[in-house]
Amino acid sequence: MRVNRSDAHIPVLLDEVLDLLAPAPGGTYVDATAGLGGHAEAVAERLGPSGRIVLNDLDPGNLERAGERVRAAVPGIEVITVHGSFASLPAELEEWGVRADGFLADLGFASNQVDDPDRGLSFKADGPLDMRLDPTRGETAADLVNRLGERELADLIFAFGEERLSRRIAQKLVETRRDGPILTTNRLADIVRSAYPAAMKRKSRIDPATRTFQALRIAVNGELDHLDRLLSAVGQGAQAASAGHESWLACGARVGIIAFHSLEDRPVKQAFNDLASRDLVDRLTRKPIVAGDAESASNPRARSAKLRGVRVACQGGAR
Ligand SMILES: C[S@@+](CC[C@H](N)C(=O)[O-])C[C@H]1O[C@@H](n2cnc3c(N)ncnc32)[C@H](O)[C@@H]1O
Repeated sequence: MRVNRSDAHIPVLLDEVLDLLAPAPGGTYVDATAGLGGHAEAVAERLGPSGRIVLNDLDPGNLERAGERVRAAVPGIEVITVHGSFASLPAELEEWGVRADGFLADLGFASNQVDDPDRGLSFKADGPLDMRLDPTRGETAADLVNRLGERELADLIFAFGEERLSRRIAQKLVETRRDGPILTTNRLADIVRSAYPAAMKRKSRIDPATRTFQALRIAVNGELDHLDRLLSAVGQGAQAASAGHESWLACGARVGIIAFHSLEDRPVKQAFNDLASRDLVDRLTRKPIVAGDAESASNPRARSAKLRGVRVACQGGAR
């Protein structure tokens, strides 16, 4: 049983990730969403000092912490840190001639990000309406909420939040922002709640603001677009590797992706099925791996986690 560090985000499905990726001493592994380095540390311990690990994250603070954690856990291991989106990471790996034996993406946000009111990701505490996972660039949620027209807001909240009341919420947002821009999480959450009829509010098991916050976070960070770009790079990498060409993925490389909601899990499932049907990969999971009762009880975030994996096929079936 692993011990989780002080403020650390608890890595979900840790044993399952290690089984799926099977990191071996001296291998090259990529953690595309290093976060606080929980998965990366465990992978690095398996790789040992002769291994190499690439850590990537949109959040420069998390990336730095993950790097420190891995270096402290496995002195001597080669650590490459890359600040940016995993959407562009495969092209960089290719340029540097890095060939990964394993690749992990644990999607979404880390607990230190959602727990920090200054990041504006949660309606549980008041803070600036920011929501950027990379605070160094891009539009904030406040920029979006105050800039978009009513129709665009409704479409966004519907598409990324699967929120049935998207039109009422968008109407309320546009109406309310006439009195002054919406700049804080509390104000946004109150406006969304006020768009809900009282009976629905009483019946709802979740806070009415939940879906709108999810939608804005996905939009601000381009999450589904970046995931699509990553999946297409995995497809291209697998195609090249399985044909015996140069690729950022080694032949036999194991790829694992953890999704937390259906908007993320659906494209992962479709992309992996498509690659398997073209014999470019072997499926490592038929059904997604989910957390057991003990992990779900101790880490609520694990309850919605779904891990899927594939292994890149090799020319002539070699491994
Ligand atoms: C669920 S956490 C990862 C936790 C990590 N596996 C651990 O054990 O600590 C997700 C991380 O991915 C990062 N992230 C989200 N979208 C990203 C993207 N498109 N590219 C790179 N990093 C991203 C977030 O900033 C966050 O630090």
